[in-house]
Amino acid sequence: MRIISGMRPTGKLHLGHYFGVIRNWVKLQSEHDTLFFIADWHALTTSYKNTKSLKAHVRELMVDWLALGLDPSKSVLFVQSKVKEHAELHLLFSMITPKSWLEWNPTYKDMKYNLLKLQDLELQFRGALRDHVREFLGSIPFKIEDFERLEEHLLESVSEAMVEAVFEGEIDREILKGLNVSKRDFYETDTYGFLGYPVLQAADILIYKGEGVPVGEDQLPHIELTREIARRFNYLYGETFPEPKALLTETPKVPGTDGRKMSKSYNNAIFFADSPQEVQQKIMKMFTDPQKLRKNDPGRPEICPVFAYHKLFSGDQEATAQVKEDCSSGKLGCVECKRMVFTNLEVFISPFREQRESLLKNTSALEDIFEEGSKRAREIAVQTMEQVREAIGI
Ligand code: TRP
Ligand code: SF4
Repeated sequence: MRIISGMRPTGKLHLGHYFGVIRNWVKLQSEHDTLFFIADWHALTTSYKNTKSLKAHVRELMVDWLALGLDPSKSVLFVQSKVKEHAELHLLFSMITPKSWLEWNPTYKDMKYNLLKLQDLELQFRGALRDHVREFLGSIPFKIEDFERLEEHLLESVSEAMVEAVFEGEIDREILKGLNVSKRDFYETDTYGFLGYPVLQAADILIYKGEGVPVGEDQLPHIELTREIARRFNYLYGETFPEPKALLTETPKVPGTDGRKMSKSYNNAIFFADSPQEVQQKIMKMFTDPQKLRKNDPGRPEICPVFAYHKLFSGDQEATAQVKEDCSSGKLGCVECKRMVFTNLEVFISPFREQRESLLKNTSALEDIFEEGSKRAREIAVQTMEQVREAIGI
């Protein structure tokens, strides 16, 4: 089966990426015809304003992928923007994709919804400010020609300034927490490119006639859309594309050091690029069962993220069962328990770290690998595009 998947370059990889994505890709590459790419164009849909670190992020991903076991002799590893044919197919797909399909996409709807919430926030501020502004203007000791326009103008700029202040953290952050988005999400993603994100993704997949797409659950709507686009193309111009399937796999939950989902933005992630000292500090500061205050208090391992790491990294069911017992009975203290986790985690992580370091010694070899991969990808893409142009008659 031909398998394809991509990842946006957003920085260093952490344990969550490994257990959630990469480990599965590494397994698939031995069993199937696989292509994996760095989706740098997709990264632009949300961070087109800050492109300074884009190349560095691409490079970081190259290092992490190879260090974690993606193998250029088994998979075609490449960079999306090196295969311009994706862009051509994206353009052609955009001609046949009804706008409503995209507007129904949950990611897009979320963004729109957030935008509406932002407008709501501004309206709320306006409502609360109106009387004050009127009072203020009334207290000015000279005649104002166009009172209403000035009032409106003041209201607008003050409420905008207040929304700004919320985002800058100068006013109650709670409001923002309720909205659960960054300012960037609000203002900057209402673009054509963002709306068309899944069309580009469909092109990424179909240009290689991918049949299986290993992705997380959040991507299912995008894969469904890919199938719909394939179906529509085939209907309009004749059978050209397979209808790819999403490949979902069970992955273990990897909590971050604070017990929430591991994520860079929560500041709770352990990266493969972290030094042993950094890993140790992160582990020693981890959240544990809040009821276990003293060493000999009984703990509840099932709610403790440290115990989740025991399960992932001890590599030994008996040892894990022992930790569970000793934590529950109060025999084991958290400090000692964390030391054990750190030791086990180091056994797991250090070979990857060493791989990273040796790869970093020769970055041009690294680039060559992806250059070569991009060339192989292009060969397939060029062929598909010939068929596509022929089918459309262009
Ligand atoms: N949208 C995917 C993500 O955010 C990345 C991606 C881009 C992708 N193109 C793809 C995944 C094609 C699979 C196939 O995770
Ligand atoms: Fe968590 Fe270990 Fe402390 Fe139990 S002993 S609460 S598993 S850190």
